[in-house]
Amino acid sequence: MKIAPSILSADYVNLQKDIEKVDKAGAEYLHIDVMDGQFVPAISYGPGWLKAIRPITNMTLDVHLMVQNPERFVEQFAENGADIIGVHVEATPHIHRALQLIKQAGAKAEVVINPGTPVEAIKPVLYMVDQVLVMTVNPGFGGQKFLPETLKKIKQLDQLKQTEGYDFDIEVDGGVKNNTIVDCQKAGATVAVAGSYVFDDVDPAAKVKALKDATK
Ligand code: DX5
Ligand code: ZN
Repeated sequence: MKIAPSILSADYVNLQKDIEKVDKAGAEYLHIDVMDGQFVPAISYGPGWLKAIRPITNMTLDVHLMVQNPERFVEQFAENGADIIGVHVEATPHIHRALQLIKQAGAKAEVVINPGTPVEAIKPVLYMVDQVLVMTVNPGFGGQKFLPETLKKIKQLDQLKQTEGYDFDIEVDGGVKNNTIVDCQKAGATVAVAGSYVFDDVDPAAKVKALKDATK
């Protein structure tokens, strides 16, 4: 399973050091949570951060846009170095266009669903995505408790991959720890985001390794 530490819980003043720690520990993606204070209550950081991070790491930059009408910002995030860009189906009436824009900008396209959104809401766009993100908490904050009822949706997506021949990764985000990650993997998840579990520890590298070990 690929591990995507979320810098939301990192030490912003020593961000480069934190990124190096999780990179060396073998994490494949770096997850970047963009929040606008509208789609979700909190504000985090924007495209300028991506521009600053891009030259200091070769990790895959996995950008999770928790912003209203994300299509407005897709091009800028792609230009600033995003490898994967995720847009919430709940955040725009134009999810198909938003995903088209991501691909046109040369990034991998990801569609995201909140815990209250069924898989049916994204069925029409599954043929065109590289990754589906199943939120396993309500978006907006780190450190929340994993919602086990979301596992059903991971299984449903995994089945659709088999019956329809789709080839997307299934990512999970929220409350991922060394126990919940195992349930996610069993259900069919292939990428796991972890914020507080990794960075609220004196040794983030050990936590990345613990997630890797749990899903070997
Ligand atoms: C939540 C964000 C997550 C967050 C996860 O809205 O999308 O990526 O950083 O934090 P933890 O792993 O602490 O639940
Ligand atoms: Zn996220």
